[in-house]
Amino acid sequence: MSPIAAPAARDRLRIAIQKSGRLSDPARELLRACGLDWRESRDRLFCFGETLPVDLLLVRDDDIPGLIAEGVCDLGIVGRNVLAEQRAECAAQDRAPPFRELVALGFGQCRLMLAVPEERAWTGVASLAGLRIATSYPRLLERWLAERSLVATIVNLSGSVEIAPRLGQAEVVCDLVSSGATLAANHLRPVETLLECEAVLAGPAAEFQGPRAELAELLRRRIDGVLRIRDSKLLLCQAARAALPGVLRLLPDAEAPTLTPIDGSDQLAVQALCHGAITWQRLEELKRAGASRLLVLPIERMLA
Ligand code: PRP
Ligand code: ZN
Repeated sequence: MSPIAAPAARDRLRIAIQKSGRLSDPARELLRACGLDWRESRDRLFCFGETLPVDLLLVRDDDIPGLIAEGVCDLGIVGRNVLAEQRAECAAQDRAPPFRELVALGFGQCRLMLAVPEERAWTGVASLAGLRIATSYPRLLERWLAERSLVATIVNLSGSVEIAPRLGQAEVVCDLVSSGATLAANHLRPVETLLECEAVLAGPAAEFQGPRAELAELLRRRIDGVLRIRDSKLLLCQAARAALPGVLRLLPDAEAPTLTPIDGSDQLAVQALCHGAITWQRLEELKRAGASRLLVLPIERMLA
């Protein structure tokens, strides 16, 4: 039997991620932090999960919503831009999208932007009228133009959008910009933002059934745990009862702290989970407010 079996025949969960590109390494890191591990197969399209019955499919990011819709995979890590484009496509065909965004993942930030050749004058969106715009996001661009009552020609390209002006296919491009290196290398300059994007966990519009529902829930809980502790630290210190309000005022990003009286003194042991950075400066302010024995600990896992 091929490892990529029909949906009904499996009780393992399947997650699609980008095979190669901006999101592939951070997606793998996130899943590893969730306790998943897998054997890389020789064709590197399917990776069998070894620690949990959760397998990886390595695919083109644009294919992920379709794979979820067909039930070939259950979840996917994909840019919001890809979901937004395919959602707009569904809307144009008057059907409900068969997938949905489950969790924003906080990495892979980028923007869908219009860019023009460096030497080309730009006097605002009105100057788009009558021009050709190359993009892999025709539906999002079409909607954006319509909202502004602009008429331009959309040149739909599946890749290498950035070289379209040099090839004479278009005057303007509409593409994703992350670091800006691709635009700079092609002598293009960004002029307008259509959409802010990041990586998200996507799943089917319908709820999961059976063993895959439990696996999907377990994975979501672990992802929540990983995201919550990303910048979090555990702060331990002691403070006199009278100094406590002043100390807690310096910890606005902390969850309700655990306070334990220390026998034979008016001191309390304070344990607080902080969700922002605890810098040296902040520690010194805490000390001035009356805290002592300050200790900042990294957090390895969290299960709420
Ligand atoms: C996007 C976009 C550019 C690149 C921009 O591709 O199409 O090629 O990222 O990044 P930069 O501003 O850091 O240079 P993506 O990774 O989404 O892959 P794909 O277009 O091949 O799906
Ligand atoms: Zn893509």
